[in-house]
Amino acid sequence: MTTTNADLHIETLLAQAGNRTDDAKTGAISAPIYLSTAYRHAGLGQSTGFDYPREAQPTRCILEKTLARMEHGVAAYALSSGMAAIQLVFTLFNSGDKIIISDDLYGGSYRFFDLLHDHYHLDFDVWSGQDQTELAALIDDQTVALWLETPSNPTMKVIDLRTTAQTAHQHGIKLIVDNTFYTPLIQKPLDLGADLVVHSATKYLAGHNDILAGAVVAKHSDDAEKLEFNLVTTGAVLDPFDAWLLLRSLKTLPLRLHQHEANAQSLVKSLTANSHVEKVLYPGRGGMISFYLAKGCDVDTFLRALKVVSFAESLGGVESLVTVPAVQTHADLSEAERQKKGITANLLRLSVGIENAADLQADLEQALEKAQK
Ligand SMILES: Cc1ncc(COP(=O)(O)O)c(C=O)c1O
Repeated sequence: MTTTNADLHIETLLAQAGNRTDDAKTGAISAPIYLSTAYRHAGLGQSTGFDYPREAQPTRCILEKTLARMEHGVAAYALSSGMAAIQLVFTLFNSGDKIIISDDLYGGSYRFFDLLHDHYHLDFDVWSGQDQTELAALIDDQTVALWLETPSNPTMKVIDLRTTAQTAHQHGIKLIVDNTFYTPLIQKPLDLGADLVVHSATKYLAGHNDILAGAVVAKHSDDAEKLEFNLVTTGAVLDPFDAWLLLRSLKTLPLRLHQHEANAQSLVKSLTANSHVEKVLYPGRGGMISFYLAKGCDVDTFLRALKVVSFAESLGGVESLVTVPAVQTHADLSEAERQKKGITANLLRLSVGIENAADLQADLEQALEKAQK
């Protein structure tokens, strides 16, 4: 769904998302959920703009306009999962193309890239995310795009998007950023030079651990047109109810993220000072922290001892969750690859929720104490 950018602040834009979309009919403040899959035409050659929901669907359109505006894109597409969003972006490429990827991504992205490599003849090369000369050297005639996550998952490395976009464009390739961890509240990749943004909207955008969704936002109309055509063709669109729920969730994203970040910054201090923690990884912003348990601590005992934080595999929701990347999100990587990336058995990834920071600190500290072997 295409839109234009307005100059409202993002907090206003999101709080008002969906309002004034039904003025003529009811004046509803909360956007309606349209479940209809069929739309009556007044006559031949006439349409309300809605013909069939795989093409366009009223509730999803309101959401897509909001997604585009919040990332400063020309168009956005709401899909049934983050992986469906990633898959849609790859419909822009052809077999024989090479894509450079940063070296620390969500494990499911690696799994998908392996499939593309093995069955669809796409090539991949890996960049450390730090050195622009190294990046330039990886680009050859086959290369069409650079795919990255910043901060990285789970080791929280930060990539300089502005400089990286310049290198990518000097060599005629696209920059695609998975912005799941920071969201446009902290970083707007399209403003920094990226061409496409992807989200697992399941995470911060949804924020309540209750919707599986994905989004793609395009900066350029030519990409948007191809994505729209390919999405209508392949069909992994978000359903009306989840589109409505996601729209509602976006309204409180700024408030939620503010609290996630404040809590994370407070926990970084207490975890860093804790002798049962070997090292804390935090990129300086946002609600995600990774940390290594010190030698002598048992991971399973720690997880079982938690009373407020839950041991679960997701992130970005109001409830704090802890994940063990080596056996969960990154289980598909080989042991050697995990060791190289620092994804060891004692690495934990904490998605800090919006609870009271003192309660979270007390919970982590009592579990760390019990985790002593
Ligand atoms: C950074 C990132 N990108 C993409 C995905 C895939 O999203 P989904 O699980 O919504 O399909 C995830 C899932 O954890 C993720 O963390």
